[in-house]
Amino acid sequence: MVQFRLPANSRIKPGKLVRAPTGTKNVRNFKIYRFDPESGENPRVDIYEVDMDSCGPMVLDALIKIKNEIDPTLTFRRSCREGICGSCAMNIDGVNTLACTKATEEVRGEVKIYPLPHMPVIKDLVPDLTNFYAQYASVKPWLQTRTPAPPDGERLQSKEDQEKIDRPSACILCACCSTSCPSYWWNSDRYLGPAALLAAYRWIIDTRDEATGERLDDLEDPFRLYRCHTIMNCAEACPKDLNPARAIAEIKQLIAERNH
Ligand code: SF4
Ligand code: SF4
Ligand code: FES
Repeated sequence: MVQFRLPANSRIKPGKLVRAPTGTKNVRNFKIYRFDPESGENPRVDIYEVDMDSCGPMVLDALIKIKNEIDPTLTFRRSCREGICGSCAMNIDGVNTLACTKATEEVRGEVKIYPLPHMPVIKDLVPDLTNFYAQYASVKPWLQTRTPAPPDGERLQSKEDQEKIDRPSACILCACCSTSCPSYWWNSDRYLGPAALLAAYRWIIDTRDEATGERLDDLEDPFRLYRCHTIMNCAEACPKDLNPARAIAEIKQLIAERNH
């Protein structure tokens, strides 16, 4: 498959302008990245005038309206429409976020929409997340035990211990953080990135897990973990208010304490 990797702040040539019907009063312009690898053409940016009087308030509402009423070829991912599935992550107005929770009203002027930066693009606003998911899988995001479970019940955890994993468990794997991380942009083949490392952290601190040592061993690597330079873009970008940077710092601390 031909793939195009969108560099940060790239300038893409203008495409078509699709005007709203004459007489439409409340118009907003949506400037949207378009790329179809099967066409053999270079990426372009199309502009759609959207009648906001017949459109829902979120950027995803506008994308759905454009697809349903103006241009059915426009391609993007979405599912839950309420910030839970993570599939509508994209770059809106220069910021990685979820289209379903981003209000068009919050954007001034033209609403510029690009795919998540520095990822291969499958089509239009759809990035190829194959590597991202493989990195997530590589941290073994499941409970690993060595001892048998209690015969009469579950592996229990105190309320305090559960609270430690509560926030990191809220990650929706949208990739907004990893694709806003400069270290990940330049080393995504070897650096795990904030999303996968947050998942690793969630299992490292889970008191029921019995593979903590091996998990730390797997991360003690100049690239997989230590490419994080605490730039903090990840925490800024997370639409669920999570803090992968802090989790990464805590993993480094745990490794340092173990090796001391
Ligand atoms: S803190 Fe680390 S993971 Fe987060 S953006 Fe910076 S370098 Fe990337
Ligand atoms: S940490 Fe936040 S930004 Fe990163 S994948 Fe999870 S929910 Fe998305
Ligand atoms: S559609 Fe599920 S998070 Fe936006």
